[in-house]
Amino acid sequence: MKGAAQAAPFLLSMPARHSFIDQVLIAADEALRALSGAVTPGRPSPASTAPDGGDRHLAAGLMRVNHTGEICAQALYSGQALFARDGRVRAALQGAAAEERDHLAWCRTRLGELGSRPSLLDPLWYAGSFALGMASGLAGDRWSMGFLAETEAQVERHLEGHLDRLPVDDHRSRAIVSQMREDEGRHGSTGRALGGAELPPPVKAAMGLASKVMTRTAFYV
Ligand SMILES: [Fe+2]
Ligand SMILES: [Fe+2]
Repeated sequence: MKGAAQAAPFLLSMPARHSFIDQVLIAADEALRALSGAVTPGRPSPASTAPDGGDRHLAAGLMRVNHTGEICAQALYSGQALFARDGRVRAALQGAAAEERDHLAWCRTRLGELGSRPSLLDPLWYAGSFALGMASGLAGDRWSMGFLAETEAQVERHLEGHLDRLPVDDHRSRAIVSQMREDEGRHGSTGRALGGAELPPPVKAAMGLASKVMTRTAFYV
């Protein structure tokens, strides 16, 4: 009896068991959809009205990197949403994740147009990013939003680098990357507006290192 009384406050702070199981099932469904490519975009691809052209081999490598980045984004947001406490934070994560799904679908379609394929390491990156997303969600909403803001800031700089490297006449890939950069900037602002904490410099450096490993490997594998 005494034990139950002590456990009660903890149990009251937990989400209802069935709803947490529902959330886990949703997360599993999101993982399968992201990795299988069964993702329907909510917005038409910005590439659909742009002319094709440019060095296809280089573009395919860069778009494979961007596709893997979007796989990581799906996994991060999915893991973070699982433990978001504030309803506004959960809604922001879900809103951003919907736009990330567009990015994922656009990159995958473009890869196909370029005669290429997603990275073979995507399942590994999904698993690692999901674990990181859960850890950041468990750390609390302020850290979770700070992690989101820093992730998006790094992605925005990365996409700017890709706009420098993509062939100038590959208008289709460039249209996708430009729209992604715009969306990521907005996601980062949302994280800051929801009280995201500034991450310690070593954490930012570790995130930068992990993304460097991802971008180097996904270009080739
Ligand atoms: Fe994205
Ligand atoms: Fe984003």
